[in-house]
Amino acid sequence: KQIQKAEIVMSAVSQKQYPKDQLPEIAVAGRSNVGKSSFINSLLSRKGLARTSSKPGKTRTINFFLIDEKFYLVDVPGYGYAKVSKQERNKWGQMMDEYFTQRESLQLTVLLVDARHDPSELDIQMYEFLKHYGLPVLVVATKCDKIKPSKRPRHLKAVKEGLNLEPGDEVVLYSSEKLDGRNEVWKYVNDHL
Ligand code: GTP
Ligand code: MG
Repeated sequence: KQIQKAEIVMSAVSQKQYPKDQLPEIAVAGRSNVGKSSFINSLLSRKGLARTSSKPGKTRTINFFLIDEKFYLVDVPGYGYAKVSKQERNKWGQMMDEYFTQRESLQLTVLLVDARHDPSELDIQMYEFLKHYGLPVLVVATKCDKIKPSKRPRHLKAVKEGLNLEPGDEVVLYSSEKLDGRNEVWKYVNDHL
């Protein structure tokens, strides 16, 4: 997949700041530090477009990346970062609610989980939240380069079972470093645009 143009057009903290052109959107959600921003960069083959960090809590705003003037990839702040105040957590909750429950141009949410671990309680909650609102979800189990290939099927199964995946929903094993799963994700994304 070749992208001609990818640019950040807005870092939003509230609805008023969202793009108004009604292009379709694909959101990327998941725990803080799971690799959302890296995922976006690897999908687009753009190092450093979305800011990444080895420390959790890097992305604090809803970032809209316009892709080939055709759709948006949306990087949202991660959940589950322990070192934030209650006030900040509430702000995050409000921001997420506003986006996921009211954004009409949202076509698909890519929910990132860590392929190495069973889904956490918060991962399960996020999946159920999205499903509750009837939103299409693709689960991407990332950092799979850190698992031996022979052990990957077992981890894939654990993610599926841990999230209690609804029929029709899929999990893709992914690596932002080695690009495993990239074609599969693009296929899924294109089907939802
Ligand atoms: P927040 O913005 O804080 O919510 O984090 P994030 O989910 O955007 O994570 P980010 O992309 O910043 O990545 C976090 C760390 O994980 C960085 O050190 C990345 O280099 C590393 N990382 C992300 N994806 C992968 C992957 O597929 N494989 C490996 N080995 N490391 C990864
Ligand atoms: Mg980030």
